[in-house]
Amino acid sequence: MEKYLYGIDFGTTNSALAIYNQHTRQVEHTFLVPSLIYFDEYHHPDGSPNYVVGEDAIAAYLAKGMKGRFIKSVKQVLSRPSFTETRIQNKRYNASELVAIILKKLKSRADLLIGVDCRRAVIGRPVFFDDDNVQKDTLAQTRLSKAATLAGFEDVRFQLEPIGAAFAYESTLSKKERVLVADFGGGTTDFTYLILDPEKVGNHDRKSDMMANGGIYVGGDSLDAAFMWEQGTPHFGKHTQYEATPGKRLTVPKSLFANICSWEQMNFFNGIRIQKDMENYYHYSGKDSKFKNLITLIEHNLGYAVFQAIEKVKITLSDTDQALFTYHHLGIDIEDHITLAKYEQITAKEVGRISVYLDQFMQQNNISPESVDSLFLTGGTSQVKSIQQLFKKRFPKINLNAGDNFKSVAIGLAYSGYLFE
Ligand SMILES: Nc1ncnc2c1ncn2[C@@H]1O[C@H](COP(=O)(O)OP(=O)(O)OP(=O)(O)O)[C@@H](O)[C@H]1O
Ligand SMILES: [Mg+2]
Repeated sequence: MEKYLYGIDFGTTNSALAIYNQHTRQVEHTFLVPSLIYFDEYHHPDGSPNYVVGEDAIAAYLAKGMKGRFIKSVKQVLSRPSFTETRIQNKRYNASELVAIILKKLKSRADLLIGVDCRRAVIGRPVFFDDDNVQKDTLAQTRLSKAATLAGFEDVRFQLEPIGAAFAYESTLSKKERVLVADFGGGTTDFTYLILDPEKVGNHDRKSDMMANGGIYVGGDSLDAAFMWEQGTPHFGKHTQYEATPGKRLTVPKSLFANICSWEQMNFFNGIRIQKDMENYYHYSGKDSKFKNLITLIEHNLGYAVFQAIEKVKITLSDTDQALFTYHHLGIDIEDHITLAKYEQITAKEVGRISVYLDQFMQQNNISPESVDSLFLTGGTSQVKSIQQLFKKRFPKINLNAGDNFKSVAIGLAYSGYLFE
């Protein structure tokens, strides 16, 4: 038997890798790499593309004055048929090639740690890559599988991410339990309901223990997008009026602002026509200073920095009940006090979708609250107070268990070696 196998959690925001020694049945190392790629504006002297991954991508993007292409949440394009390729420095990249860049980084770092070119991996996948659409889902998994091959893996199995999280929790248990696992990530929220038994860790047949899986396309990115829409876009001119025809004033189209709420759509503004429209709105608004902020945001590629300020509000409010939404750059001056109550009001719709889905999941799978012995919540977004509150209310008698919010899935995937038998 090969000595090693990797558990790989390729996430929307963070990717993690766990190195599993199949002889000792132990996880030997785990590490985390933010799922970010930065392409410099210039090629290497030999003509090859110049890119960096993870933390280094943030550093390079900032050091280069936010010029070049900075790619975030690339997992979300896996399921989009409309995304065929993107052109960067005169080279075209399809979805698999972009994802392969991140997988390669994970593999090379792990290979270096153990001194082996390990080609065997269990890679996680969400229960649904997109909203419950089989074709999109198949497309996403096929693309992910190609990415793994491009990154140098030869022997790959896929496992549902929440089952990965469940297996990580299982390794900490001392008795058999019926567990509801919820993984709240950057892109998706996934559920699994299953029987965990510490005596079965790493066993071959676990099918009979898996009772239900489900998921929804809502995650931390959706909370940030909701915040941008409600609290961010007014600073960028959502209420700006312009003179459409002499004497007739209209509000600028809301669609402009929908595009700055999600990262991938920012490229929308690269078109010449839209830039012309923007100039016109600005001119006929009487050079509205808020609308000018929108032009600055786009021209100077400030999306990532503004979203970091938004994420900071969210993270602060996971611990306290006051936060400052602050961003000051190139004439954009945002300084808003945000209370927890206000934040919860802004994100209520997204959290509500999770709540409705949870009810549906329980009902459709005939899971009564009494048939859940324990809860395991993981993923970065599980720290959001209103999400914790939701579970406390639904399961008042059970404690919320948590492990490593960012590495649990990868660790559990590494315990899924049975998939190769
Ligand atoms: N303390 C915190 N409070 C609230 N949210 C947080 C906190 N820390 C991180 N997050 C959010 O958690 C998300 C990332 O979590 P995680 O790394 O589990 O996601 P992922 O695995 O990359 O995504 P997915 O599983 O959906 O592909 C981001 O949206 C981030 O803003
Ligand atoms: Mg995840």
